[in-house]
Amino acid sequence: MVGTEAEAAVVIESSVPSLVAASVAAVAMVAAAEVEVIKTTQSKLTNLEIQTSFCWYMLPKLEQEIKNLHNLVGNAVVEGRHIVVGNGSSQLIQAALYALAEPLDPPSPISVVSATPFYSIADYMRSGLFKWGGDAHAYNDYKAYIEMVTSPNNPDGELRGPVLKRANCMLVHDLAYYWPQYTAITKPADQNIMLFTISKCTGHAGSRIG
Ligand SMILES: Cc1ncc(COP(=O)(O)O)c(C=O)c1O
Repeated sequence: MVGTEAEAAVVIESSVPSLVAASVAAVAMVAAAEVEVIKTTQSKLTNLEIQTSFCWYMLPKLEQEIKNLHNLVGNAVVEGRHIVVGNGSSQLIQAALYALAEPLDPPSPISVVSATPFYSIADYMRSGLFKWGGDAHAYNDYKAYIEMVTSPNNPDGELRGPVLKRANCMLVHDLAYYWPQYTAITKPADQNIMLFTISKCTGHAGSRIG
């Protein structure tokens, strides 16, 4: 394991195969974050004063390493994008749904759908703002709704696009498995909301970084 942030940067820039480099970069990213967390604790959370990032609690170095990793792997467009980190992508799924859940008239929870077979997010649906709406192919309401697009899909690994049955559909792209160890990376994903997670990138589920 890399020991310092400087070593981590050297590994990322060397010409090791992209798969290995991607894993190392991710581990380095966590290591760098740990170093910063220690520094931050010692300086009484001064990072909270950093205003450069949309995600106010994220250190600039972590944001840059996340961008480096995606640029290296080529699985997402990151330039000009806001990076937000959460407690695993499970938390970010909830955050995205919360952000998109627009008030309906008359007031009711917005439906969240996904094409079958789908990764079950029913556990995240304990909210008055959104509710599980089942198979995206079967959605036939006129109201606005959210479609979760998981690609590669869990459980079948299929590369997917949205079903998009209606124009008033908002999309959340769950790209947890869009890493070279699961599928060919044919082009950088370029969606409005894209979710990734270290738990699938490197198998470090315990890191809870999404
Ligand atoms: C498709 C998909 N998205 C999101 C998650 C959640 O990932 P995390 O462990 O980062 O919360 C999983 C976990 O199995 C998953 O399979």
